[in-house]
Amino acid sequence: MIKLKILITSKLPGNWHEKVNIPGYCVIVKDENEDTREFIVRNSDQTVGILCLLTDRMDKEIMDKLPSLKIISNYAVGFDNIDVEYATKKGICVTNTPGVLTETSADLAWALILAARRLIIPADKFTREGKFTGWKPDLFLGYDVYGKTLGIIGFGRIGQAVARRAKGFNMKILYYSRGRDFQAEKDLNAEYRDLDDLLKESDIISIHTPLNNESYHLITYEKLKLMKSTATIVNTARGKVIKEDDLVRALKEGLIFSAGLDVYEFEPQIHPELLKMDNVVLLPHIGSASFETRTRMAEMAVTNLVNFLNNRPPLSVVNPEVLNI
Ligand code: NAP
Ligand code: GLV
Ligand code: GLV
Repeated sequence: MIKLKILITSKLPGNWHEKVNIPGYCVIVKDENEDTREFIVRNSDQTVGILCLLTDRMDKEIMDKLPSLKIISNYAVGFDNIDVEYATKKGICVTNTPGVLTETSADLAWALILAARRLIIPADKFTREGKFTGWKPDLFLGYDVYGKTLGIIGFGRIGQAVARRAKGFNMKILYYSRGRDFQAEKDLNAEYRDLDDLLKESDIISIHTPLNNESYHLITYEKLKLMKSTATIVNTARGKVIKEDDLVRALKEGLIFSAGLDVYEFEPQIHPELLKMDNVVLLPHIGSASFETRTRMAEMAVTNLVNFLNNRPPLSVVNPEVLNI
């Protein structure tokens, strides 16, 4: 008898890829060098579950190649790599890993805020290159963080965790989100603004919306033009929320002071002009990249998959309608 298959598209921290053990199922882990789509297609027969990465595009075409597929467990909170609507139509359950990565991701947004405000990266490079010949009144001048106005776009788990950290910096907190969160406004002393007003009033803007139809290219040249010339924009959400060409143009024209990016419109490609700019901090999508958090995410993604296949509710389901609960 052919066993049912579970595919895992990468080894996981804490060796969680080795901890899936369900009687009647065999687990196949992709080799690092193999192309993901080839791996999936090669193993499509009898595949019931896939644990995948945010870089794995789970579209109609690939789902149609997997007639037995019942669950996609995403090793990420964001699920814009998955055609959820189509999965739902096919009765495929989609799960993700919210919550466990919130604080780690908020820490990284703050690392970018501080680095981009105070030119930490070029200053480090300068120092290593032996160019530090003595204290100077105007060496690497940035702009303050303390006491300034922080504008958060997307006031969910991570957006609010970023706001909590702003208390120690005595900041005024503004937010724009799909809806109002009156409890969080009270708890965090945050004020709602529409997007244009938030862009006009903030000194530092941090983006925390998921990528969806409404947030795609939310930030264009027209929007960047509204920002203060001394302002900083940080994006640790998804690259496609900012129109990258427009960001480059705004930075070149000096419309804003600096930017900090963990994600890119055409990831892993980065706009070549960004690579040349000293006032832009560029990170390789490492928002949740701590040992603790990546291990917790692996445990959660595995638990989602195992629970579903054992007829228990997964910890986090993106399309609960497929479970009829
Ligand atoms: P969350 O709790 O769902 O928060 C997202 C917030 O954005 C919610 O308040 C949501 O409102 C709001 N929102 C949704 N669509 C919007 C739109 N079009 N315009 C304005 N606001 C909108 O999610 P989270 O856990 O904070 O994660 C946020 C995102 O961060 C993830 O989706 C992922 O893409 C990204 N992320 C990146 C990294 C990294 O490594 N760089 C790490 C973790 C997460 P509703 O409540 O109405 O939906
Ligand atoms: C990371 O980008 C995530 O969505 O978990
Ligand atoms: C700087 O080092 C100062 O003492 O002002």
